Amino acid sequence: MKLTNKFFLTLICGLAVLPLQAQKFRELAQTPPMGWNSWNKFNCNVNEGMIREMADAMVATGLKDAGYEYIVIDDCWHGERDSLGFITANPVHFPSGIKALADYIHAKGLKFGIYSCAGNKTCAGKPASRGHEYQDALTYAKWGVDYLKYDWCDHEDLNAIGSYTTMSQALQAAGRPIVFSLCEWGSNKPWSWAKNVGHLWRTTGDIGNNFVGDPDTKKWHPLGVLQILDLQDGLRPYAGPGHWNDPDMLEVGNGMSVNEDRAHFTMWCMLAAPLMAGNDLKNMTIETLAILSNKEVIAIDQDTLGIQGFKYATKDSVETWFKPLKNGEWAVCFLNRSTSPKSINLDWKTFSVKDALSGFELNMTGKESYKVRNLWLKKNIGDTRKPLKATVPAHDVLCLKLFK
Ligand code: GLA
Repeated sequence: MKLTNKFFLTLICGLAVLPLQAQKFRELAQTPPMGWNSWNKFNCNVNEGMIREMADAMVATGLKDAGYEYIVIDDCWHGERDSLGFITANPVHFPSGIKALADYIHAKGLKFGIYSCAGNKTCAGKPASRGHEYQDALTYAKWGVDYLKYDWCDHEDLNAIGSYTTMSQALQAAGRPIVFSLCEWGSNKPWSWAKNVGHLWRTTGDIGNNFVGDPDTKKWHPLGVLQILDLQDGLRPYAGPGHWNDPDMLEVGNGMSVNEDRAHFTMWCMLAAPLMAGNDLKNMTIETLAILSNKEVIAIDQDTLGIQGFKYATKDSVETWFKPLKNGEWAVCFLNRSTSPKSINLDWKTFSVKDALSGFELNMTGKESYKVRNLWLKKNIGDTRKPLKATVPAHDVLCLKLFK
């Protein structure tokens, strides 16, 4: 090969890999994003008044102080494209326009997110971004969008890596730092290619308001909390600061029992999952608010090491999960999957846990001991020198922090 040909070949190859190296805004989502999204509770029933009310409620309830930041309108905010192909908002439901709504949300010290889709139409049949990626990214930047959830309906034969990379580059070109949330349902294993494309990627199909889920796989139905949890198996190496596995948004407060909501929330925190509340923030029970705003459990999720937790053991329907935390601390949670209460009787001194992924080790077999704090009771309950005896109610958790 002539030297000039070789030079051009190298240049072209270099340019071809360059976009995959340098797309997303790297400083964003260093801990899993936290916020609220309209879909799980309201589906297509969105309008500017209720979105403003959710922003008001996020502040008034103390959820903002607990770390929730993004107010995201999911599907159905869209109007038509104008004569030049720019997207507009539905004029009946968003008469003041999206920019005014974003301004309102920003004035509350919150951030604003929006939804689109890589195909021709969104999952609810609204105009999506295929062929308009750069125009849409520009529009979002102009409106003051901080977060984009990007779905995968009506994609025909599109290549997922190509489609999501195009939108990622479009956002980059538009210049406004926007968290890019890939909602491709895990169909093309985004964890294996999206680290440089976006900040989080859905790992499964849609969550439903159901703890166990329907085992019938022949017809489509939303997944239960436990089904989604099981589908996270093997994904923890792919998560870390700036790039998170997303097991879907929260169903806390949407109708499961308080025990199930607590277990769902806790396990999402053990997974270092994005915490997008999906309930009506204006009408929450005390229990729902207590779950969503437990700062000690949220701190497990938001730990700056960003190491996803792992299942250590399963015995008699009780799973033991560990998550290494900064400063040599650990979260330990016991998840009772069964419909009857289970007692736990364990001697910490039999535990020597080595996390091969992070290299962290928790060894209580020798002299070393840890203090133990119950994160739902918000109470220190002793230390690891004495055995743990407890009962975990059905579909619930016992969640502890071990610290020095
Ligand atoms: C898909 C997504 C959901 C939601 C809907 C909106 O099903 O997975 O989270 O965004 O589309 O139509």
